[in-house]
Amino acid sequence: MLKNRFYLDYNATSPFSTSFKSYLEKGDFPFANPASIHTSGKFSRKCLNEVNEYLYKLFKLDPNSHHIIFHSGATEGIRSFFEAASDGDAIFYCESDHPAVLACANHLKSRGVKLIPMAIDQSGNFELDKNVELAKAWLESNSGKIFANFLYVHNETGVRCSLDDAISFKNTTNSFVHVDATQSPGKIHDWNKVSDKLDAYTYSAHKFGALKGVGFSFVSKSFPYESLLVGGSQQSGLRGGTENVLGAISVKMALEEIQALDLEAIEKLRDTLEVLAESREDVFIVGKTSKYGRAVNTLNFILKSKRADISLIQFDMAGLDISSGSACSAGSVEPSKTLIAMGLEQYAKNGLRLSLGPLNLGHEEEIIQKFEKVLRKL
Ligand SMILES: Cc1ncc(COP(=O)(O)O)c(C=O)c1O
Repeated sequence: MLKNRFYLDYNATSPFSTSFKSYLEKGDFPFANPASIHTSGKFSRKCLNEVNEYLYKLFKLDPNSHHIIFHSGATEGIRSFFEAASDGDAIFYCESDHPAVLACANHLKSRGVKLIPMAIDQSGNFELDKNVELAKAWLESNSGKIFANFLYVHNETGVRCSLDDAISFKNTTNSFVHVDATQSPGKIHDWNKVSDKLDAYTYSAHKFGALKGVGFSFVSKSFPYESLLVGGSQQSGLRGGTENVLGAISVKMALEEIQALDLEAIEKLRDTLEVLAESREDVFIVGKTSKYGRAVNTLNFILKSKRADISLIQFDMAGLDISSGSACSAGSVEPSKTLIAMGLEQYAKNGLRLSLGPLNLGHEEEIIQKFEKVLRKL
C-alpha cells in the first residue's frame, strides 16, 4: 500500500475488506473443483452453497423465483442479460449508463436489436412519464420485446433511481428490466432492499471490497436467460466454467463487512467536503437536487473555471486519489457522456468525483484539511 495517501475513489474500485485480507494472509483456501464428488470437492461446494444462501437471505430473494449466477463482473452480467434480446427487440437505455451497457447495446445492434435512448433530466433523474410514453410509442409500431436498463446508483454522479419507477416502467410496458446495481452496496442505506418484481440485478465484487474479476446477478426464473458462456453444466447450465470458490467467499466476507459499515459517518464526511467545495463561487454540485437522493459516499462537482485534468494533478500532489467523473479506461479525461446527457455539456471536461469508503473513516480530519488546501490553491 502506498503511504501518506488517501484513497477517495471507491466507485472505481475498492481495497479488500479487512476480513478477506486476513483470510488471504492465512493462505489456506478451498481449492478443489466444486463439481468433484470427493470430500475436497464437496467442501468447495459447501463453501459455494453457503455464499448462495447468504446472498438470498441478505437480499431477501427466493431461490424458487431467482437464480444467482456468478460471473466475472458487471460487464459480463450486463452482457449476459441483454444476450436474450434478438432481431426486432429493443434495448432501452440512457446515454448516461455505464459503458458496459452502451457498448453491449451497440454490439447487439448488428443482430437487428434496436437501440432507444431514454431521457434523464438536468439532475440526473430518470424521466418516468416521458420514457413510458417513448416505450408505448415504440410498442405501437413494433412487435418485439423491450429490454430496459436501470442504473440504480450512478457511478459518476452517485444519483440513484427508484426501483418503484423501474417496476412502473416494467408493468406499463410489459418489458424486461435489468437493474445495474453495481454501485449500490455500501453506498446507499437500503442497498440490500430489492424487489422480486424486476428481472435481474447485477453486482461487481471489487466495488465493495472483494476480488476483481468476480460478480453475480440475481435473475428471475421467468426471464428467458440465454447462457453467454457455454461449457460444462456448472451453475445449472447458466454459465459454463469451473466456479470461482475463492471469489464467492470474498463476496460474502466483503458484504458482511458492508452490513456493519457506518454509512452515516461516510455521509457526514461527504457532506463536509461538499460544503467546502460549495464555498467556492465557481463550483456546481452535480445531482444534488436529484429526486431520490445520491449515494452517501459520492461527491461529483464541477469547477467551472478549471478542466478536470488540471485539477486532478493538484489533488494527486496533495495525496488525495480522486477521479475525473469521466476518466476513460485508458486513464485520460474525456468529455463526460453523463454530464452531456444531463445538459451540462459546457462543463463535460470539468467534472471531478470523489467517492469515499471504509478506510477513510478515522482519517476525516486529514482528508478535510488536504481537500480544503487544494481547493484554495486551484
Ligand atoms: C454502474 C457500473 N456498471 C458496470 C460496471 C462494470 O463493472 P466491471 O468493470 O466490474 O465489470 C461498472 C464499473 O465501473 C459500474 O460502475
